[in-house]
Parts: sequence; structure tokens; C-alpha cells
Amino acid sequence: MADQPTTRPGAPGGESAPIRTEPLPLEFPGVHYFDEEEIEAVSRVLRSRSPFRYYGIDPQGEAEVFEREFAGFVGVKHALAVSSGTGALHVALGALGVGPGQEVIIPAYLWVSVIAAVVNRGAIPVLADIDETFCMDPASVEAAITERTSGVIFVHMSGAPGRVEEVAGIARRRGLFLIEDCAQCLGGALNGRKVGTFGDIGVFSFQVNKNMTAGEGGCIVTGDEALYRRAVACHDLGYAKDGDGQLVLDRPDLHLWGMGYRLDELRAAVLRVQLRKLPRIIDSMRKSKYRIRNGISGLPGLGFRKILDPEGDTGGFLITTYPDPEAARRVNRALRAEGIVTHPQGVSNIVMTEWGLHLYYNNLSLVNQSSVDPRGAPWRLAENLPSAERRNYAKGACPVADDLFEGSILLPIPSCLTREDEDDIIGAFRKVLGSGSPGSEQ
Ligand SMILES: Cc1ncc(COP(=O)(O)O)c(C=O)c1O
Repeated sequence: MADQPTTRPGAPGGESAPIRTEPLPLEFPGVHYFDEEEIEAVSRVLRSRSPFRYYGIDPQGEAEVFEREFAGFVGVKHALAVSSGTGALHVALGALGVGPGQEVIIPAYLWVSVIAAVVNRGAIPVLADIDETFCMDPASVEAAITERTSGVIFVHMSGAPGRVEEVAGIARRRGLFLIEDCAQCLGGALNGRKVGTFGDIGVFSFQVNKNMTAGEGGCIVTGDEALYRRAVACHDLGYAKDGDGQLVLDRPDLHLWGMGYRLDELRAAVLRVQLRKLPRIIDSMRKSKYRIRNGISGLPGLGFRKILDPEGDTGGFLITTYPDPEAARRVNRALRAEGIVTHPQGVSNIVMTEWGLHLYYNNLSLVNQSSVDPRGAPWRLAENLPSAERRNYAKGACPVADDLFEGSILLPIPSCLTREDEDDIIGAFRKVLGSGSPGSEQ
């Protein structure tokens, strides 16, 4: 807001005018970069009258080229485009042969789709707590392993990678598969290595909240040829394909059941454009986030989520931490009163307990062990009973996560913040917390 002073003196909660009166821009990183290029990409497909990837009047091969470009970007051998991140999780678990009698370890901070994918496969989800990175705590993963555990889904939450190297080491030692869910951290890296390359399969989403988007869409990546072929089978008709696109019928190990998660050419064409813009989108969010972080670092009572590698942080979220829940709630109320909110359809600026199906205990179907069929599957299936009976998914199951959610504020960082917007956010934190002494970046 260029026409307003960026900081104002005044006691927190005092009578002075709020720092902003106009909401901050909405998040949705990719859509702010939509322009004629995406329009031309869609038009190209429409003009060809060939919106389906495998055949048509004049197929443009958009999905296939996108897969090659995306695999090159992530640095993996194979990419398979699918119609959503949820679909990518289902396909990944299908390719890995997950089913009844198995346990899959998932984090306390996640998205509902991760749980749904495990439950829909007939397996039992097992919670691991998080640590100050807001991603899985490797020690909690190790402690959650039983003789029934088949694998781990590591979720890089809120834009930045967690301790995936340690979890990959545990998975290797214990003979478990590792899926990395990179939906919220597309383009992120840890010590120079891109997320999605640490496990057996990396999963991505291109839904509208993600770092690049076609409204919907997803992808799985893997370096493993056999898993890739099984994933191709799962995402489409249940049979792998050979180089000419013919179904492979003479390999019983590649006979599966199809799930119908193909990506169409329209979205693939948009995603090719967005992928080229992704470095700019991430750069913009990261610069805004770290300018704000530097501007408020050292304020009394203020801490930050542990970021393992700021260079690999995609920058879309700033999580600040407070000594106790009451402090977090008070600061959040005061920041919102200063106008640090987005338009109502955005995530805005919230104490993390207000974050919906991202918190394990807000997933009532998990807490209540809701079934997918009248027999009580997967929980009451004979092969799952010994696992399910031991499980508690209610609040209290992951005490570190519970405390972090209550004592932290999550602020989305849109990809189109102006310097004035950033100054307003910095000014509001300083006004609410007292100016303190600017600290140094960790
Ligand atoms: C961590 C995570 N996994 C999976 C998904 C599912 O992706 P989609 O919405 O494309 O199905 C999302 C987002 O929606 C997510 O945030």
C-alpha cells in the first residue's frame, strides 16, 4: 500500500491507525504469473482438437513432453503426469503394492489426501510426530516401525524440506519404501538436491495452491524402471505400456488395476509454461519471505520454524513461533487488527490450530476410524485388526505437533508481494511485538 506509512509508532493494541486497511494479495503462487503464454498453450491444444494424451486428430504430445521436462527439472529418470496430487499418492501406493496387513507411517502435519490414499488401499496409517522443521521427526519414524510397516510417506510441508535424508537412511536400513510428498514444496531442495529424489517415488500436485498450477494436476517421479512401469499401469488401464504405447500383456508382474488418473493435454500444455516460470515464482516468494524474516528477526518472544536449508526453501509460508499458545493467539489477533490478512478466500494469517485437514486430529474420519465399506475396512479387516486396535489418532497422539500447532502462526507469502506489502508485514510485527533489535538470519 504505497499511499500509507509503512510503520507507525504506538503500543500494541493501542488506538493508532492500523498499518493496512486493504487485504494482502491472495496466495496461489502460479496463477499470478498466468499471461498470454498459458493462453497460447491452451489455444494450441484446442486448435489441434486433440485434448487427449494418447490419441486424437492431431496429438501435440504435450503430456509426454511435459513429463520429460519435469523429469529433467527434478533430476530423475522418469516422470508420470497424473490428474491430481491425490491421484499421484494413490498411484504411488498402487505401484508399491500397498494393501491390507501393511502399515504406512505418515506425519502428524500433513494433508488429508495422504491419509486417504493409505486407507483407500486397505492399509493402516501410523502417525509419526514432527519436530521443529514441522516435518517428520526421524526418531519418531524409527519408533513407529513395527513388523507390519511397509513404508513411509514423508511430507515436505509448508514450502520447505524436512529431515528427509535421515528418514531415507532409516527406510534403507529397515527395508521400507519411502514416498516423498512434495506437493507443498515443488522446486524445493536440501543441500543442493531436489525434493522428490530422496526416496523411491516423489509425488507432486499442481492444484491451484501449489507453486505452479494448471488448476489441477499431479506427477510422480522415480528412478526405478519397474516402479515407473507399474505406475503407468496404475494411473491408466492397469497394464504397462511398451515404447510404442501398446499394452504389455505378456508380463503378469505388470498386470495391475487401473485407477483412471490420466492427465489431459490442456493442463499439460499449461504446466509446460508454468514449469519454465517456476524458478521466478519461487525466487519471488523466497526473496519476500527472507526480507520479512530478516526484518522481524530478534523481536522479543519471536521464534521461527527451523529451516534446514534456506536456499532450498520455496518461500511460500512464514511460520513464526511463540513461547506459549496464549502469546501466539494474542500476537495473531493483533497482527490481524493491523490489517495483516488476505482476502477471505485465502489462507490468511492464522494460528496453526485453525489450519483444517492439515492437522492429524482434525481428520475426523481418521480419529473415528471411519470405514470405506460396511465390513469396517480397513480397520476391522482380520489382517489389520492387530494394527488398528493399537491406534489412537486423537489430539494428544503427537504431543510435539500439538504444542507446535498451538504456539505458531502461519502466514502465506504470495508470489506477487510488493516491497510496500513486505514493509507493512514487517511494520505490523514490529508494532505488535515492540521493535526489539533486528537479529541476524539463521
Ligand atoms: C501435502 C499434500 N499432499 C497431497 C495433496 C493433494 O493434491 P491434490 O489437491 O492435487 O489432489 C496436497 C494438496 O492439495 C498436499 O498439500
